Amino acid sequence: METVQEIAFSGSQDLPPEFIRPENEQPRFTTFKGRHLEIPVIDFSVPEWENLVQPVFDASGQWGIFQIVNHGIPNDVIDNLQRVEKEVYAKDPASKSVEGYGSQLSTKGNNKDMKKGWVDHLFNKIWPPSAIDYRFWPRNPPDYRAAVEEYAKHLHEVVNKLLRCLSLGTVYNMKINYYPPCPRPELALGVPAHSDLCAITILVPNQVQGLQVFRDDHWYDVTYIPNALIIHIGDQIEILSNGKYKAVLHRSTVNKEKTRMSWPVFIEPPPNLEIGPYPKLVSDHNPPKYKTKKFSDYAYCKLNKIPQ
Ligand code: SIN
Ligand code: FE2
Repeated sequence: METVQEIAFSGSQDLPPEFIRPENEQPRFTTFKGRHLEIPVIDFSVPEWENLVQPVFDASGQWGIFQIVNHGIPNDVIDNLQRVEKEVYAKDPASKSVEGYGSQLSTKGNNKDMKKGWVDHLFNKIWPPSAIDYRFWPRNPPDYRAAVEEYAKHLHEVVNKLLRCLSLGTVYNMKINYYPPCPRPELALGVPAHSDLCAITILVPNQVQGLQVFRDDHWYDVTYIPNALIIHIGDQIEILSNGKYKAVLHRSTVNKEKTRMSWPVFIEPPPNLEIGPYPKLVSDHNPPKYKTKKFSDYAYCKLNKIPQ
């Protein structure tokens, strides 16, 4: 395959026609001149990560793009990454022996009118380690692997911090269930059958048996591993996934002698967030199975037994 690099260094001063964009795309006509855009800058070197929540929230809502400074990735790690990546391209024969390397995604359809981008690219899965396939990584320069792995490790920290900030819109709603001993436990239920209305639930019970799950037309006691967290998929995830993920139907039983307790934490969307099937999961063959509505409205209907 001919790479853009080969064209660039072939000595020709002409731009081959397949790279020439229609005028309504050409930057000379479509770039605003005389002003650069200043996107929000967020300083990650704050003592408490909670202090980042508001700026990340604002920038994400108002801009959708921002820059992070003082992010904790040492400069030499980034310098190293850039150096080895540059060497991959500088050593032309080496780069072409790499499978992830290519110039054109858009030529796949072999459409003659399809314009090409002036770029070559190289894809590598770099995180998590279990997703890495070193066969697709360049062998040269020899320190490519170490440099990229080091970058991925540091990047992971930044991503974790960012995702923690972005998800803070969620509300963690803890419930404490207290089930005193019951004279006729075989006749009663602690909490009757339901699915949780939140997105996910994280639950720890005490050692007294009680959680039951409906599966294959029967109710089963759930085996509890001491110190494990029990995760329930709730209604909002079922709705978002258009039914691909299932909110679990469950209930709790009680005990004749012992007090049972459980501590579910409901992870809820912000009340005003509209939740419906994720558009990419909906198609003519797979129409939306659920209405889109604000989480607060969904909760109101469910709690008041009004049909959704
Ligand atoms: C609940 O679903 O609210 C209670 C579950 C449990 O107590 O284990
Ligand atoms: Fe529940």
